[in-house]
Amino acid sequence: MVPKAELHCHIEGAASPDLVVKQAQKYGKDLSAFIRNGVFVWDDFTGFLQAYDAAAELFRTEDDYARLAEHHLSNVARDGAIYAEFFTSPDHARRAGLSPEAYTDALGEGMKRAKAKTGIESRMIVTGVRHFGVESVEAAARFAARCRHPLVAGFGMAGDERFGDIEDYVRAFDFAREAGLGLTVHAGEFGGWESVQAALDHLRPSRIGHGVRAIESADLVKRIAAEGIVLECCPGSNIALGMFDSFANHPLPALRRAGVKVTLNSDDPPHFQTSLAREYEIARTEFQLDDKALLGITRTAIEAAFVDRKTKAELLARLEPKRR
Ligand code: ADE
Ligand code: ZN
Repeated sequence: MVPKAELHCHIEGAASPDLVVKQAQKYGKDLSAFIRNGVFVWDDFTGFLQAYDAAAELFRTEDDYARLAEHHLSNVARDGAIYAEFFTSPDHARRAGLSPEAYTDALGEGMKRAKAKTGIESRMIVTGVRHFGVESVEAAARFAARCRHPLVAGFGMAGDERFGDIEDYVRAFDFAREAGLGLTVHAGEFGGWESVQAALDHLRPSRIGHGVRAIESADLVKRIAAEGIVLECCPGSNIALGMFDSFANHPLPALRRAGVKVTLNSDDPPHFQTSLAREYEIARTEFQLDDKALLGITRTAIEAAFVDRKTKAELLARLEPKRR
């Protein structure tokens, strides 16, 4: 099996329908509007975000979150991942009644358990949710900057990129940058190529979440390749959300050919009937990438990871062929 690494997955979006149904039973909630026959149901991005929020609201205690992180990381380890970053959302925790500190510590506990069980290395990226507004994104960045949790390695922004002006989020990213955190931002998913350019100009991240609509501007593609910006591509998510009508029309192969560094990610796996293993399989069958190319994508992910240098070197060494 090709070793894998993941940089882009939302922890609340990684809860399987089975787990969410169990949580709903535990808290006496009816989730039939969002889960039917063991499958998440929604029609469009707005509906998806509603299902996502409804599921997230059912993770309320430290134990709930520790189990969620362990559940997610055990799944990606089973898929062959040696490293995984996931997005956290202090706003979702607060809405469910837990402080950002307790939430982060609990996820850290789940990460520790998953590592003990499977060997998987992992880190958290604290995110703000764009459509929750500038103040809440700044609060998330301030929390990320001060929390000093050893497994918090980055800051990012998710949510609806059609909301607000990117310039308004500069301060949040400055807080995080000054704290030495790695930076990533969702752009070029629902926004066009201009949203990717604006994110690069104003927020100066080393990675872009999705970013695939950069393909609409040849100059921007050249710039992304020249600057070594890494795209956290999520093809299964893009097709499920209707960004592109088929894998044949997905721009990942063209971006790769243009010299852009791309990685493979599951985003919110059970919502999109995907997994990290399936994303690698899509790349193999739909984009004709062989083992060598897939291993190269894993290497790109680890090189772009927000993990400390020593751990990164150890992870990269694990990708080398074993000497006798
Ligand atoms: N939050 C969870 N999944 C997301 C996605 N695909 N785009 C933006 N925000 C998200
Ligand atoms: Zn995402």
